[in-house]
Amino acid sequence: MNTLDRRQAIARIVGISSAAAGGALLANPVIAAVTTESGDWTLEVGTRLAYTKMDPMVVAKKAYETGNGCMFQVFDSIISSLATSASPDADKFAQIPTAMAHYGYAGILGEGAVCGNINAAGMLLNLLSINGEPANALLSQTMRFYENEALPYQDDAFIDGIGADKTETLAQVGTPTTANSILCHSSISLWASENGKSFSEKGMRCKQLSASVVYEIVTMLNKAMDGETVNDHPITDTVENCQSCHTSGSTFAPSVKTNMTCDNCHGGH
Ligand code: HEC
Ligand code: HEC
Repeated sequence: MNTLDRRQAIARIVGISSAAAGGALLANPVIAAVTTESGDWTLEVGTRLAYTKMDPMVVAKKAYETGNGCMFQVFDSIISSLATSASPDADKFAQIPTAMAHYGYAGILGEGAVCGNINAAGMLLNLLSINGEPANALLSQTMRFYENEALPYQDDAFIDGIGADKTETLAQVGTPTTANSILCHSSISLWASENGKSFSEKGMRCKQLSASVVYEIVTMLNKAMDGETVNDHPITDTVENCQSCHTSGSTFAPSVKTNMTCDNCHGGH
């Protein structure tokens, strides 16, 4: 948030000059009510805000009801829920401009590249702390979950939980599919091919997919808050085998730095 603009706005509200606003901030009870303790706060590289446990289904439902693309759905539903949570940083979560996450829809502005759910997870986890520790390790878990799980969740408890209509869901979502990759392209094309649908019919399916990813991320964050080591979605044995030779530092085998599922893009050798 632009500090000068805010001060000028406050000055206008209380009818004082903007030059006086800085000093008046300390003394004026009217301004004290407008600004909060963290009113001049801005997010900086390395800043982390405290996660606090939330009900995964409540946040998933919020994600389902949020529009404007998958990346925004995931990022905004979790950040805005934290903004009204018991987190000591709730007030700061409320100041994060979640609209920044809009660009990730349909694999980054419709390019079918990295899925917006994954992009949102990275943006989110890089600014969260869990009991003072970085939350970054949960991104790999989220990616492996996204690659390997049949999504969106279609069990009754989930469909009811997010408030979706069962008949409509059956017609529009059909059979859930695994993406095999973190790409929007493979996720949507495999689903479309399995269900005889086209990209333009992905609306409800992708909204439920984002709700499913939010459900999983919040569940994992809650476990981590409880002090559990979260390894619900480890890399496959195949990838582990590839990585035994292809490390980031290796030169005898070409250097590789990724945990993505190798064997969907590469054959063995
Ligand atoms: C025992 C060590 C070892 C393992 C395990 C291994 N690689 Fe390799 N890989 C190599 C070496 C050494 C090379 C370079 C020499 C060559 O071309 O064979 C290589 C080359 C490659 C190349 C370059 C093109 C090619 O095919 O030569 C790709 C791609 C590759 N590996 C992918 C994989 C994937 C995917 C896996 C797991 C399914 C894997 N590797 C497992 C050692 C290994
Ligand atoms: C989304 C698809 C994708 C995934 C997943 C992926 N790669 Fe690749 N990888 C590529 C592409 C594309 C290239 C470039 C190939 C080319 O131009 O010949 C490449 C290049 C490589 C090379 C160098 C090839 C050479 O000819 O020297 C190696 C080795 C390699 N990948 C190993 C891996 C391993 C190991 C994994 C899993 C840990 C992995 N890749 C995951 C797509 C992928």
